[in-house]
Amino acid sequence: MCAFVPPAAVAAVAPLSSSAPSPSWSWLNTLHPTVMPRQNGKVAIVTGGGRGIGYEVVRQLARLGAHVIIGGRDEQEGLAAVRRICEEDKEAKVEFRKLDLASVLSIHQFAQSFKERNLPLNILVNNAGVMLVPEGRTGDGHELHFGVNYLGHFLLTWLLLDLLKSSGEHGDAARVVNVSSSAHSIGEIRLNDINSSYHYSAHAAYCQSKLAQVSFSSHLHQEMQRGGFRVNSCAVDPGMVNTALYCHLWTPLRMAQRVIARLFFRTPAEGAVTVLSAALSQDCKGGYWSNGHREMTSPAFDPGLELNLWEVSMQLLGLQSDQ
Ligand SMILES: NC(=O)c1ccc[n+]([C@@H]2O[C@H](COP(=O)([O-])OP(=O)(O)OC[C@H]3O[C@@H](n4cnc5c(N)ncnc54)[C@H](OP(=O)(O)O)[C@@H]3O)[C@@H](O)[C@H]2O)c1
Repeated sequence: MCAFVPPAAVAAVAPLSSSAPSPSWSWLNTLHPTVMPRQNGKVAIVTGGGRGIGYEVVRQLARLGAHVIIGGRDEQEGLAAVRRICEEDKEAKVEFRKLDLASVLSIHQFAQSFKERNLPLNILVNNAGVMLVPEGRTGDGHELHFGVNYLGHFLLTWLLLDLLKSSGEHGDAARVVNVSSSAHSIGEIRLNDINSSYHYSAHAAYCQSKLAQVSFSSHLHQEMQRGGFRVNSCAVDPGMVNTALYCHLWTPLRMAQRVIARLFFRTPAEGAVTVLSAALSQDCKGGYWSNGHREMTSPAFDPGLELNLWEVSMQLLGLQSDQ
């Protein structure tokens, strides 16, 4: 952690820093940074915040005065991210904590050590993700896309939910922001083969995990509203963003993608804009966010499927509702 931000030391709103680390030629897909409210006194966790979109979310939240914890599995990358942010802004309050979303044990340890610090938790950004990875399993036997992108975040959120509920009681409602993708729209949740054991397609597995995030987000939001808790949960599509996420593409496709991405994809800073809008907007009411705002029409949510997925996830993780 590099420094503490004196509370309420600055104006109520601040423009997002537009000094993106690399220049963008993405003239078709550009999202401009916007004005966001100060976040002094707020605490945020961003998973996978060591690089890519997550890094930019961390950087901007810290710049707005929030205390930000990067949850990631690569310590070197995480600490380098903290150093870079602190070099840029001596006041930034950022730290790295180890979190491997492919391990139930690591998620429990991360949540436990965070709770022991008696900090509030105002914003949880479930951002970490993998895409098109070769067939593989988490330490607990779940298909990698499903396990890391969805189930790991489900568990993390569940373990931190009481803290989110209590933190949302005063001031702004707490937020859970699930970084999904437009790929959710072609996803299918196969409850009878959730771990793709009978048939594996990396593409289908990624899309399923992103649909599962949207579904989880919607169900959680409704549960929180029903229970009268001031916790909003939303799903976000950051757009096509030029990051390392595409590193598992088939090599010729990867080479083509690199050229196309430099021309047409968003920069990570632009990709972070919608995530930040959902995390910080004062009238966030859940839903699905893309292109910097809440979509008027949500994707086709299916309450029956949402409930089934929720119950299956609880069973897979050995959780009970009254925990
Ligand atoms: N880029 C796009 O075009 C795009 C489009 C739609 C949605 N998204 C979503 O945006 C999110 C961020 O992706 P990105 O584009 O910024 O990709 P990225 O640069 O590859 O970042 C992914 C982050 O997730 C972390 N991560 C992966 N596996 C993990 C694990 N088991 N435990 C903890 N952290 C783990 C990575 O850290 P490691 O160093 O440990 O791997 C990295 O920090 C993802 O959820 C992705 O699906 C991206």
